[in-house]
Amino acid sequence: MDLGFRGAATVVVGGGRGMGSATAQCLAEDGARVAVVGRCREVLEAAALDLTGRGSPDAVAIVADISDPTQVDRAFAEVGERWGELNALVNTVGPGAAGNFEELTDAQWQEAFDAGLMGMVRCVRAALPLLRRAEWARIVNFSAHSTQRQSTRLPAYTAAKAAVT
Ligand SMILES: NC(=O)c1ccc[n+]([C@@H]2O[C@H](COP(=O)([O-])OP(=O)(O)OC[C@H]3O[C@@H](n4cnc5c(N)ncnc54)[C@H](OP(=O)(O)O)[C@@H]3O)[C@@H](O)[C@H]2O)c1
Repeated sequence: MDLGFRGAATVVVGGGRGMGSATAQCLAEDGARVAVVGRCREVLEAAALDLTGRGSPDAVAIVADISDPTQVDRAFAEVGERWGELNALVNTVGPGAAGNFEELTDAQWQEAFDAGLMGMVRCVRAALPLLRRAEWARIVNFSAHSTQRQSTRLPAYTAAKAAVT
């Protein structure tokens, strides 16, 4: 399928596993350059190798924990040094924080917002100069269907996702 990504510079945050990995694979098969960002080097390096085999001309693994602003800035500085610009930023990292309202602690609520919202905020902020340098650019942030249909086990998760939306 031609999605128009041939040669595009793309970053998938959380691209080592799950839906982030599936997204990175689609981009690679369309010929995009793909950087996958996550915390586990081993997983990311295996993913980058797989993306190269699928057709990505310059797949790369970048290790960063997006809960740490310094690591986020370092990751996008590496993207800037490598490609000079960015066409697409895909943010897939979401919060955990399962539990009903009575069970969830303040710390879990804070964690849901830090992991589910602020990580994306940090990545967008760090990526913006690179996105603005490109001829065209898009940002995709993964939300969740539960923002439209609340689950009793996910109030903190869903509140963080609603903030993303
Ligand atoms: N699965 C579902 O049913 C579902 C439904 C609705 C919405 N969603 C949303 O869709 C998105 C993807 O879900 P998924 O189930 O595919 O995710 P997943 O399999 O749990 O994968 C999460 C990815 O994010 C990375 N990650 C987690 N914390 C990170 C951090 N602090 N810094 C950098 N990378 C981090 C993980 O890699 P490392 O561990 O190596 O860092 C992993 O690659 C999430 O936003 C989720 O909320 C999922």
